[in-house]
Amino acid sequence: MSDVQQPFAISAHGVACFVRSYAKINLTLDVLGRRADGYHELATIMQMVDLYDTLCLTALNEDRVSIVSTRPELSNDANLAVQAAQAIRAYCSLKQGVSIELDKRIPMAAGLGGGSSNAAAVLLALQKWWRLPLSSQEMLALAASLGSDVPFFLTTGLALCEGRGEHITPLPAYWPTSLRWLLLLKPTISVSTATVFRNLPPSDYTQSVHTQAVYTVLLAKGEPFQEDMHNGLERSVLARYPEVAQAREAILQAGASFVRLSGSGPTLFAPFSELARASLARQRLHAQGYEVYLTRAIHPNDGNICIF
Ligand code: C5P
Repeated sequence: MSDVQQPFAISAHGVACFVRSYAKINLTLDVLGRRADGYHELATIMQMVDLYDTLCLTALNEDRVSIVSTRPELSNDANLAVQAAQAIRAYCSLKQGVSIELDKRIPMAAGLGGGSSNAAAVLLALQKWWRLPLSSQEMLALAASLGSDVPFFLTTGLALCEGRGEHITPLPAYWPTSLRWLLLLKPTISVSTATVFRNLPPSDYTQSVHTQAVYTVLLAKGEPFQEDMHNGLERSVLARYPEVAQAREAILQAGASFVRLSGSGPTLFAPFSELARASLARQRLHAQGYEVYLTRAIHPNDGNICIF
């Protein structure tokens, strides 16, 4: 990415910019193999879900980025939201500082993409608020420099993601009836994506068959087969983390007919076509002390960014 030579002019309006930052699930995840750069070649279909963090950006009269989060462990410069603000400021040669407040609700290190989503939300919010004339290619490149999942969160909600996750093919807004309600369960453990990929045996690699099959079904506005909603990381995560395997059993016992790991986990999702059944399962799992969220697919639009 070439640096922009001249500083961009900021024509901000308003003093604060609020933005919602949604979580995602992986409807499929085929791991094709390990690449020379250490990353894994993927084919995955991701969908945003109606579980979100809220960020508030405020102009700072200093040349720096600060963050305060409702989760103290996120209130530091390693936060991907700070890195996103720094990246777009550097790319546009901006001295304007910004303070970020982050109300964290999406479980962390959970396979739900919360950190990546926060980074994309900051890019989109600053682009809109400061009226930065960046093309979608420039935004995608900035996002990809921050993490493999970040480009997906610049999209409208449903996409095929390839490469290490950063090559995006958006899909039209459609969601199968059989997946209408999504029950998410976050086991108490946290799982490192890097560890999961490092421990993945080549026997769990597949071609992109599952992802291609679901992609075709979604384009045709059909219902995917359960066996195509495959996650190549799930077998090894279930084998390595007994808490996740137990949680999977608990969801099935609570009335789900299908359970899948999201990303590298440990969050599991179970789809339901009817709210009554999803709600009953949620009550049963909540009574057992599990952290559960009843949610749905969402296609965010510009209304996610409010400037006052
Ligand atoms: O890109 P990101 O920083 O989110 O990835 C975190 C880690 O997950 C990487 O350092 C890598 O170990 C692993 N990973 C991978 N293949 C991918 C995406 C992530 O091996 N496609």
